[in-house]
Amino acid sequence: MATITMLESKVKELSKMLEALKELNAAIDLQDVFQGILDQMVMIVEAEAAILWMPDNERKQISAKAAVGLAAERLPDLTLAEGEGIVGKVIQNRDTDFIDNAGEALPACSTAYLDQHATSLLTVPLQAKGNVLGAIQLMNRKNGRFFCQRNIKLVVMLAEQSALSLHNSQMYDELYKMFVSMIRMLAEALDARDPLTKGHSERVARYAWLIGKRLKLDSQMCFELYQAAILHDIGKIGIEDRILRKTTGLTDSEFELMKKHTEIGARILSAIKPNRFFQKSIDTAMLHHERMDGSGYPKQLKGEQIPLFARIVGVADAFDAMTTERTYSKGMSAKHAAAELIRCKDSLFDPDIVDIFIGILEDCSYDLESVPRTDAG
Ligand SMILES: [Fe+2]
Repeated sequence: MATITMLESKVKELSKMLEALKELNAAIDLQDVFQGILDQMVMIVEAEAAILWMPDNERKQISAKAAVGLAAERLPDLTLAEGEGIVGKVIQNRDTDFIDNAGEALPACSTAYLDQHATSLLTVPLQAKGNVLGAIQLMNRKNGRFFCQRNIKLVVMLAEQSALSLHNSQMYDELYKMFVSMIRMLAEALDARDPLTKGHSERVARYAWLIGKRLKLDSQMCFELYQAAILHDIGKIGIEDRILRKTTGLTDSEFELMKKHTEIGARILSAIKPNRFFQKSIDTAMLHHERMDGSGYPKQLKGEQIPLFARIVGVADAFDAMTTERTYSKGMSAKHAAAELIRCKDSLFDPDIVDIFIGILEDCSYDLESVPRTDAG
């Protein structure tokens, strides 16, 4: 079982990465960090408005990521070219810039908005670990006062601390994205072994995610559901090709071996530490073939003994299996497969989940491809 050993070592890599994420202690949304930094700065020096700028090296521009005292809807329009304006220079030279009592003398300041309104403008770079992450621009002190030297010192100090937390959050964000793409890669590696079921894991994950949304699960739960669904068949990596890729029906003994993919999947995912990130995925891999009447496998659980995620994935998985073309079967139409789900609700599938899924199918006229995709699904 060389493939399992390989997979298990990949999974160990993933767990190390998760540990690193925990160490970073920065499980916060980047946008919250941007806003938090600005709110603090504005409060401390009593500025009228502030903008946090970040360079986008690929596009060779600098964009506003958060603002205080400016309408949020203006933010997407606020961009500068690399090196442009005061912000561009501050990012390039890594030096604070301070313009006081400027009146109308702020040519090419940063943006048309600031050109018109700024009389006093303090721009500080955000630097951490030798890199410039961006810049903060504070405009006008409240009540017509000007920034003093003490304000400038405070802002520079605060910028140093903020840059560190921004750096950590960016690292977390990148690791998180890498982690999600590794999960996808594992699922794709599995699907690639059997060209006939190409894209199965991804589709099942998407259907499960749509069901989760209709059930009004919160976004974290929806992501966990997506993750559990995309990995539900990962144990098939441990099933021999002669069974996995067989184009005719399986014999009884082959089917018994195929059923083992549930336990193998749970075992593979159990190797990921800390387990709490993956407990639902482990349960789903183990229990997605359980059926409401106890006729499923491997544990013959009944009804609500089967965890919610496994019941959702059970419905999504069955629908995709019915509608996918195989060498030995053409694949049913979505309407026909929906009728099958309805026929088997109560006996095999959770009736509420079937009803929700049928609702989704009806709303898109049985064309799930037409449902807009989101970041998760
Ligand atoms: Fe399965």
